[in-house]
Amino acid sequence: MRKLKIIGTGSYVPPKVLTNFDLEKMVDTSDEWIRGRTGVKERHIVEGNTATSDLAVEAAKDALSDAGLKAQDLDVIIIATATPDTAYPSTACWTQKGLGIKDIPVFDIGAACSGFLYGFEVAASLIATGKYNNILVSGAEVMSKVVDWEDRNTCVLFGDGAGACIVAATDGDSGILASYLGADGTIGHLLVQPAGGTRMPASHETVDKKLHTVHMQGREVFKYAVRTMGGSVAKVLKEANLTAEDIALYVPHQANLRIVEATCRRVNMPMSKTSVIIDKYGNVPASSIPLALDAANKKGKIKSGDLVLFSAFGAGFTWGAMIFKW
Ligand SMILES: CC(C)(COP(=O)(O)OP(=O)(O)OC[C@H]1O[C@@H](n2cnc3c(N)ncnc32)[C@H](O)[C@@H]1OP(=O)(O)O)[C@@H](O)C(=O)NCCC(=O)NCCS
Repeated sequence: MRKLKIIGTGSYVPPKVLTNFDLEKMVDTSDEWIRGRTGVKERHIVEGNTATSDLAVEAAKDALSDAGLKAQDLDVIIIATATPDTAYPSTACWTQKGLGIKDIPVFDIGAACSGFLYGFEVAASLIATGKYNNILVSGAEVMSKVVDWEDRNTCVLFGDGAGACIVAATDGDSGILASYLGADGTIGHLLVQPAGGTRMPASHETVDKKLHTVHMQGREVFKYAVRTMGGSVAKVLKEANLTAEDIALYVPHQANLRIVEATCRRVNMPMSKTSVIIDKYGNVPASSIPLALDAANKKGKIKSGDLVLFSAFGAGFTWGAMIFKW
């Protein structure tokens, strides 16, 4: 297998900030409830006709600049998203257009909050073929356009944003030490955007019933998330013959701070090693991990040889974990 390196990371969130206090004026909620139950203080949301690829393009430019590359140097674009610009073309095609490049393979990954990890594993496999060298892997989401802003159970949780990294072939010894991906479609109904696809095409009725928005059984999802995140982390630590002590940085998907804390308790990971962004960004499905990775990287928290642990859980259900030697 060829080794791989993360040579650049990037982020973009839209400028508009929606605080918990703003939400108090929209639904029957409170800053105290949202902060206490989820850890979210504020989130960024798009305005006007801004779409997911617009955020992905900006995050990609940031990651390219960090890597010292131009868009023309990319060999593949992989965009993980649950909120595509259009059913087709893919958000990756719109991102490619926004970056002003052509003639390379580009595609989306549909694994909701686990999408970035799925995309990263695919990128590593493509690099291993020897055919591709520089791959953009990004998570990009505009949740604000698919939540029901009258449903306090869901609208307080999510935010918009994009994170990206450039994965490249290397002769060094960085790369994936252990990885694990999984899914269970039998419980998919617990978190679903029911309408707009071929099962329930858009109609006046689906719009009236708000079936194009997030429908979630939060308590059930919470339980699965804690169990699965903890189990995935334990699995990759065991596969790599490591313990939490060996890990320099933990970069989890962040649906709820309490899920992250419970996972850390299960695997003896101190919260001090965790890159937390949910307070500022909310749950930004596929973007949480690359946004949290970029935040830590730009603060200079990762050095060569460090072991970075990723873990995710999302709609599907999908999940995964990975240990990456920086
Ligand atoms: C959604 C979630 C934050 C709810 O937290 P919780 O502690 O489980 O809360 P519950 O669902 O038990 O609801 C407790 C009460 O708070 C109420 N409540 C829900 N949202 C509220 C809000 N924004 N403000 C105030 N009260 C709220 C509920 O109506 C309920 O009231 P009731 O007891 O009178 O029925 C939590 O379940 C969660 O994070 N789930 C997982 C989300 C997730 O991971 N999603 C994406 C997967 S990647």
